[in-house]
Order: sequence, then C-alpha cells, then structure tokens
Amino acid sequence: MLTHTEIKDLLNVSLQEGETRNVTVKGWVRTKRGNKNVAFIALNDGTCVQSLQVVAELKTDENPNGFSEDLMKKINTGACLRVEGVLVKSMGKGQNVEIQAKDIEVYGQADPDSYPLQKKGHSLEFLREIAHLRPRTNTFGCVLRLRHEMAYALHKFYHERGFVYLHTPIITGSDCEGAGEMFQVTTLDLENLPRTKEGCIDYGKDFFGKSTKLTVSGQLEGELGAMALSKIYTFGPTFRAENSNTPRHLAEFWMNEPEMAFYEIEDNMDLAEDFLKHLTAHALEHCMDDLRFLNDMYDKELISRLEHVQQMSFERITYTQAVDVLKAANAKFDYPVEWGIDLQSEHERYLVEKHYKKPVIITDYPKDIKAFYMKQNADGKTVRGMDVLFPQIGEIIGGSQREEDFDKLQRRITEMHIPDKDMWWYLDTRRFGTAPHSGFGLGFERLLLFVTGMTNIRDVIPFPRFPQNAEF
Ligand code: 4AD
Ligand code: MG
Repeated sequence: MLTHTEIKDLLNVSLQEGETRNVTVKGWVRTKRGNKNVAFIALNDGTCVQSLQVVAELKTDENPNGFSEDLMKKINTGACLRVEGVLVKSMGKGQNVEIQAKDIEVYGQADPDSYPLQKKGHSLEFLREIAHLRPRTNTFGCVLRLRHEMAYALHKFYHERGFVYLHTPIITGSDCEGAGEMFQVTTLDLENLPRTKEGCIDYGKDFFGKSTKLTVSGQLEGELGAMALSKIYTFGPTFRAENSNTPRHLAEFWMNEPEMAFYEIEDNMDLAEDFLKHLTAHALEHCMDDLRFLNDMYDKELISRLEHVQQMSFERITYTQAVDVLKAANAKFDYPVEWGIDLQSEHERYLVEKHYKKPVIITDYPKDIKAFYMKQNADGKTVRGMDVLFPQIGEIIGGSQREEDFDKLQRRITEMHIPDKDMWWYLDTRRFGTAPHSGFGLGFERLLLFVTGMTNIRDVIPFPRFPQNAEF
C-alpha cells in the first residue's frame, strides 16, 4: 500500500485553525530558499501545477534537532525527496497549507552544476533542446496533463455515443491521402539491395513480401470498420514525411478519425462541431488550474477563446463562398486568391479571425486539390470535403462524405494514377453492400495548440519528430 499522499490531494485539504495532520509526500524540488534557521522547499510531484511548501528547520545552537547542513547541501533544484511531517495551515501567502518537515530522505540528488533546469522562465526553444527533462517544468506539466485530459475526453465522447474504437495498422501498403509523403518500412539491407531481373528493387524479398510504409491515416481501414459496425473511431500515431518545418506540422502526430455509415456531410459537420465543443468544455470544466497558468504565462486570451467556442455556432460556407469573401477582402495576401487554389493558412486565418470571428467549416472544395475518396458533387468540379478552421490554428479537422459509388470511385482512382493493385480491398466496400458514409480526421496536436495556447506544435507532444530531429 502506498504510504504517501499526492500533492494535489494535500493542497485540497482545508484545515481548521490549529488542526494538523501527519503526512508523507514525495516529489522533486523546484526551488529552495531561506536563511540560516529555516529552509523553504517547493516540492512538486506533477499531480498539479502548484508546489507544496516544505518548511525545514535547520540545526543551530538553539535548535539542535534541526536538519543538518550536510543534508541541506543535497537538496537542490531537481533533487527527489521523501518528506515526512505535519501538515498545517500556512501563514504565508499563496498557499492554504504547508508541511513542517520531521524527516527528509533524499532519493536522488541533482548536481546544480550540471542539472539544466535551474531557473524559472527558460525559453521554450531551450526546453526543446532538453525535451527529456522539460516535463519537469510547470509549463510542460500543464501541457501534458491537458494532453491526457483531451485523450480521455475524446474516448468518452465516442464511447457515450456508441462508437467502437478500431485499431488500424501503423504499417501499411497504401497511401490514403495520395500525397506520397510516406516513410518506408523495410528490413532489406540498404547497402546491398536485392534486384529483380529488370533491375528494380525486389520487394518480394522484403519482410512483408511487398513495399510497406508507415501510415499517413487510418481512414481506409476505418471505412472497413464503419461498413460493419456503423460507427467507429481510430486514435493513434500517423506519419508524414513532408519536409515542412512549420509550427503546425510534425512528422509523427496523433490523429483521431471517426467514420460513420449513413452519415451525410451535414451529419459529419454536426458531429465535428459537437466534438470540438465537448473537448473544449471538458478542458474548462476539469483543467482550470492548468489553463489559468497557461493563460497567465503565455496567452491572456486562452480561456476566453475556449469559452467563445462553446457559445458560437460554427460558420458553414462553401469553398466558392470562401473564395468570394477573400477576393472582396481588403487585405494583402502573399498567395493571390483564385478559384481552384489550395487555401493557405493566411487565407484560413483571415476568414476565421477577421471576417467571421468564429470557427468556420468550409465544404465543397475543387476536386483537384482533395483526395480521391471524397464524394463527387453533381457539378463535376467539386467534392464533398470539409475542413474545420479554428482561430490561431487554421485547419484543425479535415474530412468528407465518401464516394460510395464503385464506378465513380474507380474512375477517380484511375484519373489520379493510384495503383489499384493496392486498392482492391478498399474497393470491396463499394462492391459489397456499399452505403453513404462520412468521416473526418482531427489533428490531436492542432487541438492541443488551441487548448493550451502554445504556438509551436513541437511544444504539445512529449517527443516531437520533425526534419533533422529524432533525438529523444
Ligand atoms: O486533412 P488530413 O490530411 O485528412 C486525412 O488524413 C483524412 N484521412 C482524415 C479523414 O477524413 N479521416 O489530416 C487530418 C488532420 C488535419 O486537419 C490536421 O489537423 C492534422 O490532421 N494534420 C497534421 N497535424 C500535425 N502535423 C502534420 N504534418 C499534419 N498533417 C495533418
Ligand atoms: Mg487536410
């Protein structure tokens, strides 16, 4: 049985005047200050953003039972301690309770000459270089607890609506998004590749007997699930070898993809809107301490933006309407706007932040800028895709109604030169018992940018993967 109490629980204890309690706490030293009679140690165990104040009386002539100088030398920022003592109402500002130490054990020291997290307020850039230690800062504690809460809220949302969590593969032979930005998975000896008679690489000799990649999306397999279970969702790591060194792209990121039989694009939009409102409401309801910290330290509008999303119904417009708004805009864009272009983040942010001043869902994109699987509209030019755009972030969700007609889908696959030997199993959903269906993908780290107010996606995932970086 655990013999210690977590700091979050202790900070919630309300003591009567004069009431005390014997407790044991364990955690890492954030700071130590004091004088020759007493030391004040801020101890944090990661259960909440606040630290617990430990008051340790020092050995002096008047106080021979105080803690020795030898012990105190070992207690530096970063050290790990077990403290036994008495929890009392605090006289000091900023905390309800504090602990008067009776016994301190140093589990692990942290040499002040080499432990990199000495002061408060290290820059986020510096912390990225020590990503293995940054969870020990207040900022990353908040971000990582929020990340957990959002994952929990996501599962809860789908579970309560009868969705089945489907585990789709990470190793795959097909390129869902057709962008060709995949990491290859192979056990072939790269120094000595087997060749076919024609001189090509002989993937028949590779581990799976064919060329395989890390998945860019679980959607295609998700559709197989929806065509049997009606409503499924995936949630897992996805990989994109796009060489984009931006604050919104990672090479390894987490995506959540619900897929629903019998949903049309409007139902898909309703679900996406409900979902994002549910997640932000969960953060406001359960994570206020962490949000307040991030709001004070990084983004004074964070909490009000989260509240705003609750109150607003998202604007729903077509791509063509969006282009009209942008063309009429009194704004200078780096990329000129023309019907047919892929909207850039400057355009998306103009629509959301300047024009509509709320989240926007854009539908019916030109078919040439979207993936092969989207349902084709009767105009022959557009497809039933939808992107959800958020303030500060731009695209947070991408999705669509799917093309359920076998012939139309096959024609599109041919037009887009997608090798159909990789697609027979996917086409079987349209061959056997096809149905209208829809789905979308939420970029989990994009959501976290919104919920934490962080501005660089590398700061909302514990171990970011991006070009030239896979250290930790
Ligand atoms: O728009 P995307 O490419 O859509 C799909 O992959 C579909 N298969 C989803 C579906 O319909 N089931 O990606 C979905 C979301 C984007 O809106 C964005 O939030 C995020 O994934 N995303 C990235 N996040 C971080 N780093 C990257 N490189 C990302 N690429 C996409
Ligand atoms: Mg997209």
